[in-house]
Amino acid sequence: MCNLELFVMGAKTIPVLPFDLVVFGATGDLAKRKIFPSLFKRFVAGQMPLEARVIGAARTEMDQAGFVETIKSALLEFSSCANDDDESLEQFLGLLNYVPIDVFGDAGWETLRGLFREGVVRAFYLSVAPSLFGDIAAKLGEYNIKTAESRIIVEKPFGTDEPSARELNQKLRRNFDEKQIYRIDHYLGKETVQNLMALRFANGLFEQSWNAQNIDHIQISVSETLGVDGRGEYFDKSGSMRDMVQNHLLQLLCLTAMEPPSRFTPDAVRDEKLKILRALDSIEPSDIVRGQYRSSEKGENYVDHARNPDSRTESFVAMKVHISNWRWSGMPFYLRTGKKLRKRLSEIVISFKKPPHSIFSTDVPLNGNELIIRLQPDEGITLKMTIKEPGPGGMRLTEVPLDMTFAEALDSSGMTPDAYERLIMDVIRGDQTLFMRDDEVETAWEWMDPIISSWEARSEKPFGYESGGAGPTEALMMIHKDGRRWRGLGE
Ligand code: BG6
Repeated sequence: MCNLELFVMGAKTIPVLPFDLVVFGATGDLAKRKIFPSLFKRFVAGQMPLEARVIGAARTEMDQAGFVETIKSALLEFSSCANDDDESLEQFLGLLNYVPIDVFGDAGWETLRGLFREGVVRAFYLSVAPSLFGDIAAKLGEYNIKTAESRIIVEKPFGTDEPSARELNQKLRRNFDEKQIYRIDHYLGKETVQNLMALRFANGLFEQSWNAQNIDHIQISVSETLGVDGRGEYFDKSGSMRDMVQNHLLQLLCLTAMEPPSRFTPDAVRDEKLKILRALDSIEPSDIVRGQYRSSEKGENYVDHARNPDSRTESFVAMKVHISNWRWSGMPFYLRTGKKLRKRLSEIVISFKKPPHSIFSTDVPLNGNELIIRLQPDEGITLKMTIKEPGPGGMRLTEVPLDMTFAEALDSSGMTPDAYERLIMDVIRGDQTLFMRDDEVETAWEWMDPIISSWEARSEKPFGYESGGAGPTEALMMIHKDGRRWRGLGE
């Protein structure tokens, strides 16, 4: 039996109101791997009411029974709970409906309208290509399916540059108000990412030293062991900069660097994140390194996975970023992300400055404290402290970790709750705090566009790095020349 009542530190989940949720692209990969398994887990946890209704909508001609079978197989494959709770599985499948729909024509829209009930929250999840966002939003308006309280959820990629993101925003806003639009960045739904806000704003301990006067530098790394095999065609048009930095890494940077919002409300939080994006300095070409993975094994190179022998797309990027405001002026943030690296690891490392003067007559130089926030795997926080080495024989110093894991937040399957579980329920509750606002997305692109355009203009090939390594040597050199080293992946 899957007991998912535990969410954070023993708090009980609170059921959300009844809702009608349509998933456009309901037979696609994201829906099968993430959206339906997350909904099912929330159902098992008692957060989704029995009166909820989930409507799949897709191009595929299929009847209700066929759709239920498709989702059942997806749940059995991607949700550990589905295999040991037949009763819940059958109940959940009973909430499903399916409508084949033609985004560009009229087929399906009247049927879809007929499925909605009055007086319950309506949410539309667009798990489809962004080129369809505008058309679907328009149909929801044309067929009077959307109401003033409806919510629309969209996935990345949200544009490929600032003009395309602006255009997507305009298309959505023709039918939906900004307060109704939920742009997902699944990193914001991760438990540890939210814990970063708790760590900073629910504890007074760090605030006095959370600035350039006391911190030497901050590293944000998102390293993956997987390559782009299977999605090379998409990735090759995007690259790590668009796929990872524009959204996930910049969001992590914002949460790490932002000022304390006056309240934990959607706009108060997002206003502070926006100020960080607006304060980002432009980057010198010498402060950014692009890489592409290579392997001696045939068929294991990036270019094989991308099916593009001449590809100039990066599967790795490392950069030094500065934020020009009172808190951070002069202090570097090092950001790094890549595919096919040595370890799967996402972490934020706050490296505090060394004590100004050592009173100890020891050969060992004093190190600054390090606060390591591990986002995944092994979620938790470590604070590296220097203490006296135990035993007689003088004052010898040694470094020890003060470790805290977030194991308490694990559910019974041994996994932290998936980001989508939290985010979809937030949509139903009408809480936009963990979703990106239009101006955040556009400002992030505005900062990135000149970087990407200058690469495209120079048409340079990224540096090669060995699959399973720590990234290109040039990325190591970039930080070494500042007298620092990357943490976490070894060299
Ligand atoms: C997605 C990117 O947004 O995030 C993928 O498109 C990447 O390329 C993934 O692999 C990483 O997410 P997570 O949750 O596995 O760290």
